[in-house]
Amino acid sequence: MTEILYPPWRQRLARSLHINRSQVHAKYYQVASVCPAGRPKNRTMVFRGFLANSQSLLSVTDIRSEKVAQWQSKHKSHFEICWYFSGSREQYRLSGEVALLSHSLDLSYTQAVLGQQTKQSLLNQQWSNLSANARQAFYSSSPKAPFDENTILANPAQEQLTQGKQPEEIDIDSRQISDNFCVVIFIPDTVDYLNLKSKPQERCLYDIQDDWKERWVNP
Ligand SMILES: Cc1cc2nc3c(=O)[nH]c(=O)nc-3n(C[C@H](O)[C@H](O)[C@H](O)COP(=O)(O)O)c2cc1C
Repeated sequence: MTEILYPPWRQRLARSLHINRSQVHAKYYQVASVCPAGRPKNRTMVFRGFLANSQSLLSVTDIRSEKVAQWQSKHKSHFEICWYFSGSREQYRLSGEVALLSHSLDLSYTQAVLGQQTKQSLLNQQWSNLSANARQAFYSSSPKAPFDENTILANPAQEQLTQGKQPEEIDIDSRQISDNFCVVIFIPDTVDYLNLKSKPQERCLYDIQDDWKERWVNP
């Protein structure tokens, strides 16, 4: 079996995740996109692991959300993640291209993007990792639609809740993936690492064009 050689920043990031594992918020990062008018937009997302045998990062979202439309518009499929680990006082800024996987998106990606996984296996894996509560959001009305109690009640999962079922008893078939469910693959091409804890403080830049070589610079 050949051993996979990850870029040094990926190993550093895995270590930061380990050191900060007791903090729930260590799995949240801020993700930026650019809207068609050229304005920056950002939001918090949950890190859902690395793509198998890869340095790409995974999150999930609703296909109907604005960020998906932004990443689908021409020449705007870029992201920047800003991720601060308060326990170890480290910041990572990763930027690159986004790949979007969903039953309702007719986009195909090469093996270079998906690694050893297929679109279907990734969707299955990420959908089955969600709690029943998280799954039901994909059956609710659109993000940003005007609030309407009746639409929410029309959602089959919510109906079960109002009938007195506990969230863990809700029956949303874990095999039936909502068409609104979308896996986001963040494929970094540059990484900017900052360590405020070390003395002196450290900053290191990595670029895929430079074979991910470490370049230590002034903070
Ligand atoms: C702690 C936290 C975690 C979140 N995780 C996600 C996530 O994993 N995916 C997601 O689409 N939205 C997540 N959100 C909601 C987004 O921050 C955002 O409000 C929503 O996705 C709409 O963003 P958009 O209009 O830019 O698409 C999270 C919010 C918080 C506060």
